Amino acid sequence: MSTEPEYDKITDTYTTGHEWDGIKELNTPLPRWWLWTFIACTIWAIGYWIVMPSWPLVSDYTKGVLGHSQRDVVSAEVNAAIQSRKIYSEKLLTADLETIKNDRDLLEFSMASGKAVFGDNCAGCHGSGASGSKGYPNLNDDDWLWGGSLEEIHHTITVGVRSTHDDTRISDMPAFLTDEILTKNQIKDVATYVISLSNNSVAAPEGAAQIYQENCAVCHGEGAQGHKEFGAPNLTDDIWLFGGDPETLNATISYSRKGVMPKWAGRLDPATIKGLAVYIHTLGGGE
Ligand code: HEC
Ligand code: HEC
Repeated sequence: MSTEPEYDKITDTYTTGHEWDGIKELNTPLPRWWLWTFIACTIWAIGYWIVMPSWPLVSDYTKGVLGHSQRDVVSAEVNAAIQSRKIYSEKLLTADLETIKNDRDLLEFSMASGKAVFGDNCAGCHGSGASGSKGYPNLNDDDWLWGGSLEEIHHTITVGVRSTHDDTRISDMPAFLTDEILTKNQIKDVATYVISLSNNSVAAPEGAAQIYQENCAVCHGEGAQGHKEFGAPNLTDDIWLFGGDPETLNATISYSRKGVMPKWAGRLDPATIKGLAVYIHTLGGGE
């Protein structure tokens, strides 16, 4: 029902003239600023529909006058990232350790790439923190089988150990029992001798030092400090690849171990391998 607008004293406002069952509607329109903002937004939206991609069609969408595409933006960014990676990769390939360590950006790049690649390819054997486990060397400490200089680490990763690479690092400790070089008792004695090298409370059995010198010193050294040329571990430092308890030592000496580290040449590109070597060298034990 509609009547003439009338003045409402209580609210100091006119009514619109609309009335339902005695309830009258006050005339309080939207504020001007709100209305103008609303109109401006509507105009903006129409302009936006025309200029930018907006309406979905059955199998396509309206492209907009500008033809803007977020996909193009992303691929441009990806390309830029690849370009900058390439610059670093090329620099990394030829740089020596000093240069890398003095170039903060380059160092950061190799650490970041090394860490990611390590997680994907190496952590399965060496542990996520590179701390190793039985048979898989800890790469954080300064105890190295094959050498801890950047060049040595780089070489180990490239060719592997007892791997399928033509130039693989290789040296095979004999299986002293299976190969019938020593008897069970001799092995027990030389194992105890090995323990005595890092544990003062254990005495070396008589004759064991001689067994050691005749059979083991070629690889592990006369003083048993190890030989990186042969990947033969230091036996005096109480750091064990397989274990330093009598049972494990007996097994190691009787049957040998021959741990295998795969080659990475051909599987990872040269710059990635270099980055990995820098990463591992920087973990703490680099020489
Ligand atoms: C299949 C298991 C396996 C994988 C995967 C593996 N390693 Fe190894 N790695 C070994 C073993 C086993 C050794 C010890 C070999 C030996 O007895 O000399 C080793 C040794 C090493 C050494 C030498 C340590 C020393 O003391 O001289 C380095 C460095 C190394 N690995 C780095 C890597 C990197 C980097 C990766 C990833 C790209 C990797 N490894 C992947 C098993 C593995
Ligand atoms: C031809 C070289 C060679 C000779 C000889 C040799 N070893 Fe080894 N030894 C190695 C290599 C290489 C390893 C590294 C483990 C592997 O094969 O994966 C090793 C590992 C070991 C280990 C494991 C250490 C650890 O940290 O767990 C022990 C113990 C050991 N040797 C004791 C001996 C004793 C005792 C003899 C003599 C009876 C001997 N080795 C003779 C090369 C040799």
